[in-house]
Amino acid sequence: VVADLQGTKRGKLRLGVVTTAKYFVPRLLGSFCQQHPDVDIALHVSNHQKLVQRMLNNQDDFYILSHPPEDIDLVTTPFLENPLVVVASRDHPLAEEETIPIKKLRGEAFIMREPGSGTRRAVQQVFDRHKVQVNVRMELGSNEAIKQSVIGGLGISVLSLHCLRPDYQQGELVILPVKAFPIPCRWYVVHRSGKQLSVLTEAFLEHLLFESQSLWVETGG
Ligand code: PGA
Repeated sequence: VVADLQGTKRGKLRLGVVTTAKYFVPRLLGSFCQQHPDVDIALHVSNHQKLVQRMLNNQDDFYILSHPPEDIDLVTTPFLENPLVVVASRDHPLAEEETIPIKKLRGEAFIMREPGSGTRRAVQQVFDRHKVQVNVRMELGSNEAIKQSVIGGLGISVLSLHCLRPDYQQGELVILPVKAFPIPCRWYVVHRSGKQLSVLTEAFLEHLLFESQSLWVETGG
């Protein structure tokens, strides 16, 4: 990677992000590439477990995920909140309630992410802690498909707040005010300790950390 006299960068940026981060990372890549038009990008999107495997295989320059594994020696930088909220269709019986004790979710038809998903693990931990068992009606490996299934009335689910637009704004989807939610997750930029970051990677990380400060999501109050 070489920097030319104007300070623009060349080369290839390889990054792996979890499925929840694909809602904002491409935009930040877009603004970065406007400043550095000679940069090529390989963006890999998958769930937590698959990303950790890529990290172990040293397949990318860096990663964005919410729960950095503690058994790998990593450099981690937190940079953006990723709250997980309970969502339902607007006609769901719970949609009118002002506060919902978590125990009220017992037996509710629920749409769950696939094994290996970090979202799934965070949700399961909260349900286990409160001894709540939902009725998992469907398992799905896609936040988008979960959202459409919730809107279609197949059940409730838990999704990253960042996944909800535009359906939430259009009123098709509601956030249920369930106690113990939102689950307060956050994203981290992560790479293996000792990995030498390229000038290009350093430049993108600076861009990411700066630009993400102004990213805003509607919390629903
Ligand atoms: P995932 O994302 O559910 O796609 O694994 C989890 C995360 O935000 O780290």
